[in-house]
Amino acid sequence: MHWLKQGNGQPNYFKHKKLTVVGSGNVGATAAFLAAQKELGDVVLLDVIDGIPQGKALDMYEAAPIQGYDVQVHGTQDYADTAHSDLVIITAGIARKPGMSRDALLATNVKIVADVTRKIMQYSPDCILLVVTNPLDAMVYTAKKVSGLSRERVIGMAGVLDSARMRTFIAEYLQVSIEDVSACVLGGHGDTMVPLPRYSTVSGIPITAMISAQDVQQICERTAQGGAEVVQLLKTGSAFYAPASAVVEMAEAILKDKKRILPCAVYLQGEYGIDGFYLGVPCKLGGAGMEGVMELDLNRAEQDAVAHSLAAVKSLIGEVDALLAKGEVE
Ligand code: LAC
Repeated sequence: MHWLKQGNGQPNYFKHKKLTVVGSGNVGATAAFLAAQKELGDVVLLDVIDGIPQGKALDMYEAAPIQGYDVQVHGTQDYADTAHSDLVIITAGIARKPGMSRDALLATNVKIVADVTRKIMQYSPDCILLVVTNPLDAMVYTAKKVSGLSRERVIGMAGVLDSARMRTFIAEYLQVSIEDVSACVLGGHGDTMVPLPRYSTVSGIPITAMISAQDVQQICERTAQGGAEVVQLLKTGSAFYAPASAVVEMAEAILKDKKRILPCAVYLQGEYGIDGFYLGVPCKLGGAGMEGVMELDLNRAEQDAVAHSLAAVKSLIGEVDALLAKGEVE
């Protein structure tokens, strides 16, 4: 029996994309597993803790014959293994406990995200960064500032998660398939996020035509508190299945150049009258990363809500700038 001819004598015959996930906790490990299942590329799972990324990655690699994915999953502590990544998902950082706001994590996580970003850039200077670490809008800003990458290449995950939560609650309320429900959530990923019922639909019909104003309000409030609701139940950590699913949907849109329109935290340069801050807005995700911002017409109340959310994000970003200026972030 003759073996199939090897390609070019090159050791790496398969030309897969390469995706790195930094942080092998619940969000990182789940994202790595979902990305492998979708065969988005070879996956490197990196963490500072010895053994955890290696063990989880080996376990995922051994699931491949059952799940049927032909990609490698590799666990490591060494940034050299992440070299030439097309896309890097940053989940590293501490998660909140019951009663804590996402913002309380800032001082610790800004150092972690800055350090991770620097090391990633050393080995993958042309990658696209997707940031998940909280407080999200401040952490994605940190990654942009430290990496020096263009806004197309540094994007934050939040809107896909927040709108998925809203879609869940709408589908449950109306007893319809989640497949037909789409939802739009703008603003920062915090208590001030801005669910937009006018732009949330069931098969194209705005939910405002189907659900009373009072119940719409309740759905919006539950959406804004969606993360806290899970933290309250788990007690020892925060949500991970939905956050990981959300960032992998973004990664898929980019790695497959799908040109999807998804709400993401984007560095705004004049859109919505905002300049120099990250905020959740609908944008186009494709092979080049964030390929365009969609500007929605907002009514007065919606504009006010976005302004309120921006104020919260601005104060967090002020803290990041102060920490970076003080040189406390090595
Ligand atoms: C949440 C965290 C990931 O919303 O921010 O669950």
